[in-house]
Amino acid sequence: MLEDTSFAIHPDKDKQTNAQAYQDIGRVLEYKKTDSNYYFICENGNVMIRFFTSSIVRVIMNPFEKPKLDLSKAVISIPNQVCVEAEKEKESILLTTDQLRLTIMTAPFRVKVTDKNNVVLLEEEKYGMGHKVSGEIVAHKKMYQTDHYYGFGEKSGFLDKRGEKYTMWNTDVYAPHNPETDPLYESIPYFMTLRDGRAHGIFFDNTFRTVFDMRSFSDTYAFMAEDGQLDYYIMAGPTPKDVLSQYTHLTGRMPLPPKWALGYHQSRYSYGSEAEVRELAEEFVERDIPVDVIHLDIHYMDGYRVFTFDKEKFPNPKQMITDLREMGIRIVPIVDPGVKKDSEYQTYQEGIRGGHFCRYIEGETYFGDVWPGTSAFPDFTDEKVRKWWGNKHAFYTDIGIEGVWNDMNEPAVFNETKTMDTAVIHRNDGKPATHRELHNVYGLLMGKATYEGMKEQLHGKRPFLLTRAGYAGIQRYGSVWTGDNRSFWEHLQMSLPMCMNLGLSGVPFTGPDVGGFAHDTNADLLVRWMQVGAFTPYFRNHSAIGTHYQEPWQFGQKYEAIMKKYIQMRYQWMPQLYTLFYQASMTGAPIMRPLLMEFPDDEKTYNLNDQFMIGDNVIIAPILAPSVTDRAVYLPAGEWVDFSDGTVYDGKRTHLIHAELKELPIFVKKGTALMQTKWISNTDKAPENVCMDVYAGTNEEKYIMNFYDDDGETFAYNDGRYLQLKLEVVSKKDAVSITVLNKAGDFKPAYSTIEVRVHGLAEDQKTVINGEDVRDKAMIDLVN
Ligand code: GLC
Repeated sequence: MLEDTSFAIHPDKDKQTNAQAYQDIGRVLEYKKTDSNYYFICENGNVMIRFFTSSIVRVIMNPFEKPKLDLSKAVISIPNQVCVEAEKEKESILLTTDQLRLTIMTAPFRVKVTDKNNVVLLEEEKYGMGHKVSGEIVAHKKMYQTDHYYGFGEKSGFLDKRGEKYTMWNTDVYAPHNPETDPLYESIPYFMTLRDGRAHGIFFDNTFRTVFDMRSFSDTYAFMAEDGQLDYYIMAGPTPKDVLSQYTHLTGRMPLPPKWALGYHQSRYSYGSEAEVRELAEEFVERDIPVDVIHLDIHYMDGYRVFTFDKEKFPNPKQMITDLREMGIRIVPIVDPGVKKDSEYQTYQEGIRGGHFCRYIEGETYFGDVWPGTSAFPDFTDEKVRKWWGNKHAFYTDIGIEGVWNDMNEPAVFNETKTMDTAVIHRNDGKPATHRELHNVYGLLMGKATYEGMKEQLHGKRPFLLTRAGYAGIQRYGSVWTGDNRSFWEHLQMSLPMCMNLGLSGVPFTGPDVGGFAHDTNADLLVRWMQVGAFTPYFRNHSAIGTHYQEPWQFGQKYEAIMKKYIQMRYQWMPQLYTLFYQASMTGAPIMRPLLMEFPDDEKTYNLNDQFMIGDNVIIAPILAPSVTDRAVYLPAGEWVDFSDGTVYDGKRTHLIHAELKELPIFVKKGTALMQTKWISNTDKAPENVCMDVYAGTNEEKYIMNFYDDDGETFAYNDGRYLQLKLEVVSKKDAVSITVLNKAGDFKPAYSTIEVRVHGLAEDQKTVINGEDVRDKAMIDLVN
């Protein structure tokens, strides 16, 4: 508690720190190659180097024993056969692929990594790898003056993480998130360095508490772990997109979510009865505000017991769910890991009888306090337990539920440490390990159990999972929201870099609680946040018990109309968003991205926190402060068209843009295109349609749009039931030509044509589709 007072900065405090002796790895004593692994036995540690692909290399240093290769919960790919040239020189060993070159100095062991053009990615100088007697391990690398750092998963603060120091230890933080609140719920021990326009990545695959220090020294950065081994992957880039593709090659990509999960979600802690939920759904329909999902927070359960409904408040959930589906609305219930200790409760009985809960080495079950009171926690590190838990989701799927919300899965426990006793021993699929080692993967493995269980129960339909905690690889199972924010303008501001860095950390499906969770929201804040939410990959309005309700109509007609417009806009943009989701699922490229991703040579983008891109051609520049109606917007190279009124702005310049409360500044790059639909309502069951909006260029621009569509809810796309159109847009002085370069897949959408709308066509420009001049009927025919 003293740490919460000025004692924290007591002048004598430094003297209390116990500087433990640091042991450098020392000289190489022996070097050998076994299969494709290069081993270095050094004075104070053993190193193994292995190429995964020609542009991804894994380095493991274990100070005490032979490097262990099979600990990862995150990496799902296996090493390719990579052609490596190894040369031994007098004081160094060179390992070269066609993308990477490792120079290993032997006295002492130091590694330098360059790309194929000899550009240095990583370098170790005075300090390299080492450990402390306590078992702590650390790697130091040279920090360059021009380095900028991104990623690190879910962190508050600004986009560029140079000058920051972060800890990875999944933590439930209800206290207001401020720029130095760390750690939060997710641990993604990964970052990307952008140096002089080139990017490379490092993934430090260690599940213990880890620390990344890009702050303490001006010429060195370090990453360290409390225990375990220094097991890290270097990804060569050279573009930010390449790094993302390399990182997600290792840790996996987001499966394509069901389309409905991309819609608007309405949540509240809690909608407390069937009557309230029905009323809420009707309200949306009556007001003609589209909504895809209503969330059920903890009050739907019987005494917070997971896999139950409160029989009084929710007497007939199945009927409610069926009726809501008729209205085009789905229910997503919350499922926490804590299982109430209650000998008459079936899930608890099964867990105890089946030995499914986390236990101490002596065999006693671990109990902690969460919402239901004393609770036991499933040991998700065990396959048998994951199966049990996954199967239990039939309780939900049997009544028509297709999505689940996992919360408190850090795991959060109401005690001083905020989590489970680190002495608990997890079964870990036959390799028992303490909670101290596996804490950070508890949420990931709960996500795995839930996603896989739901998938099995849904017989071919795509499940949706929302999760609060996770580790590297969480994108394989769920979307992530940024936890308990507050209805502060500062939190709206912070949500942008937070989601962008999550996207750069391989997690594309993210969003904050729109409107703010804790604290009372207000009309202006909610409106501005809804405008942003309409363009964040995950779009859910959620608020806490005891706070002002924040459904779109809570502040009167004037505000409702604006919010409605932006929720509708979300639906209008659905074909575009779905295409971007598809791309994320294939390449790892985030949907919402910082400008530096598309403009890595433009320094102005390196720490641009209040603008973001959707895909490669749209910039969203929201207003993020009260009473503000004008803001500076930086537009990078190219010409940019204001989406609302067609005004054209020059790139490589900052513009002062006016935006009344009802306006969200959106800019589309000239010479590119977007896919949109006119479908914007739950009540309107009109056939789906897709339009292509082309923004005419003039300077010989060429743009490729890879449009994707499918049934939106099954895995039939794996059997070829998809529609993929490779569309080329070429703008010249006299014409804008749209050509279908390729059509693939045998999915037949409800629309048989795509209307083409060309914006900003110059007087002497004509529109050409597939080589033919078109005048009134600009259409792409999908049938012939
Ligand atoms: C946690 C979650 C929040 C939820 C609440 C009650 O605070 O982060 O979203 O509403 O628990 O379940």
